[in-house]
Amino acid sequence: MTAELILETRDLTRTFGALVAVDKVSLQFRRGQVHAIIGPNGAGKTTFINLLSSDIDTSFGSIHFNGQDITDLPPDKVSRLGIGRSYQKTNIFPEFSCLQNCWLGAQSRLPTSMRFVRPARLYDEVREHADKALRDCGLYQRRNTVAAHMSYGEQRQLEIGMMLATNPQLLLLDEPLAGMGQEESFEIIELLKKLAEDHTLILIEHDMDAVFSIAQQLTVMVNGQVLETGSVEQIRNSKAVHEAYLGEDEDES
Ligand SMILES: Nc1ncnc2c1ncn2[C@@H]1O[C@H](COP(=O)(O)OP(=O)(O)O)[C@@H](O)[C@H]1O
Ligand SMILES: [Mg+2]
Repeated sequence: MTAELILETRDLTRTFGALVAVDKVSLQFRRGQVHAIIGPNGAGKTTFINLLSSDIDTSFGSIHFNGQDITDLPPDKVSRLGIGRSYQKTNIFPEFSCLQNCWLGAQSRLPTSMRFVRPARLYDEVREHADKALRDCGLYQRRNTVAAHMSYGEQRQLEIGMMLATNPQLLLLDEPLAGMGQEESFEIIELLKKLAEDHTLILIEHDMDAVFSIAQQLTVMVNGQVLETGSVEQIRNSKAVHEAYLGEDEDES
């Protein structure tokens, strides 16, 4: 049985001047799965995520989330529909505590209908979401620590917390392990596995061991295009992928 679609792109395209950074990408993402996207630097992975979160506008094609066309909706609307994202470069407020950072995430997600609700109830609602996000990202004990005083790994963890505070169904993660040591990476991988139990993940990641340990589906992008997509096993055994991308490691052994 195949899980239902949560997200679909049809011929999704983004150009920068003459450069086609994302080139007619048609992909399907199924609810509850971890779908990794790999590919060399400049392949268009971050641009693809930026399109999904509406951080940038599409040039052509469309994006469908839970059956709804969300192409070029404002980013806050996309977030409220249930798409959360993290950034390749850490994107937290360093002078704020973990709680304050998650608070901002939770507040950004408030439905506009809540504007007329009593402030005390609003406060409770935001606090509840922020606390849950802190627990789910593993930083509840550190909630009053100022972000700048934490390790790089913890800061990346907090960024995931801020995303969770928006109460997303679908998590877009752009290289969550970038710049981390082995131990910190291990912690984040465990966190991602836990999040995968009740979220759908689209994960851009260079660390192939991490990808193979977490993901069920794998897409390889090269030059803005999908070189191949399928189950992790299919891609592992794909000749085209080995030649274009995974090849180097194999040749050395
Ligand atoms: N804002 C931008 N303006 C111009 N070119 C961009 C912009 N963002 C990305 N690009 C270009 O688009 C291509 C894809 O970039 P990116 O999506 O960041 O790749 P990846 O994340 O796979 O490394 C690269 O050639 C990059 O230089
Ligand atoms: Mg990138």
